Amino acid sequence: MINRRRRLRANTAIRDLVRETILTPKDFIFPIFAVEGENIKEEISSMPGNYHYSVDRLYEIIDEVEKAGIRGVILFGLPGSKDECGTSAWIDDGIVQRAVRKVKELSKDILVITDICMCQFTSHGHCGIIKNDVIDNDASLHYLSKIALSHAKAGADMVAPSDMMDGRVLAIRNILDENNFKNVSIMSYSAKYSSAFYGPFREAAHSAPKSRDRKTYQMDPANINEAMCEIEDDIKEGADIVMIKPALSYLDVIRWARDRFDVPIAAYSVSGEFAMVKAAAEKGLINEKNVAMEMLTSIKRAGAHIIITYYAIDACRWLKEV
Ligand code: PBG
Repeated sequence: MINRRRRLRANTAIRDLVRETILTPKDFIFPIFAVEGENIKEEISSMPGNYHYSVDRLYEIIDEVEKAGIRGVILFGLPGSKDECGTSAWIDDGIVQRAVRKVKELSKDILVITDICMCQFTSHGHCGIIKNDVIDNDASLHYLSKIALSHAKAGADMVAPSDMMDGRVLAIRNILDENNFKNVSIMSYSAKYSSAFYGPFREAAHSAPKSRDRKTYQMDPANINEAMCEIEDDIKEGADIVMIKPALSYLDVIRWARDRFDVPIAAYSVSGEFAMVKAAAEKGLINEKNVAMEMLTSIKRAGAHIIITYYAIDACRWLKEV
């Protein structure tokens, strides 16, 4: 007998009924870039359709996010000044802290997540503290904890360490607990690869390292067993959600993580993934909507519960169209 699989592909109705993976606005987290200054909404050239917002204009994007039905945003900040140890990352009136307070004021419902890292705030552009010419793991933990605490004080619901130092989740969990922020959760960038797909973000966030690369702390793209070790460590240290980043070239990592661990899995579809689709669409080489939706569907099919994507708002609009 021939298995006539095509019977279940015959028309839209039957395809809709048997579809295994369904995207919804609730799957997405939208990244937002806050900058110092006033009355700024400036398109990010490396990421068309994404903007730098000054705090006073965040209401425009928060309004769009709410209308789209998206539940969470992740905030990145571009500070006014940088130094060796990233002071502007933890001060009370730092750019991220002010953005958090503003978003909290604008919306009761949107989950506010903050990226915890130093690269946007250090003069050298690395994600940790440099001592004797190396990124010093344990010295960096002290500063990362300070950043997390200051974000929690500003009102962040969740902090997301993206630096890849060892032990940061434990250090952050401890400082939050000691300061009565037991309910602030941690989404760890657990398996964050040293990827060339971050290029457009580094331009957007002015966070490229001034010298060398991030290979001594971010993971080798060739490794997957190591990713499982990283995730296991982070869960043991207290991560509530673990993340794999980038997404598209790491769908196997997402699937392995989903099969092995019982905590929610997030995937970050990064700037390069977004920019590639944009560029190809602008050249008329691909259909932007169809390619973007196929990408997002594949990330969910691979096992991600949560997808961080620059396409979040567009995707919500496209979901309504079908
Ligand atoms: C900060 C950070 C980066 C991204 C998120 N947080 C850049 C990096 O590690 O260089 C990348 C996000 C993207 O490319 O969309 N460490």
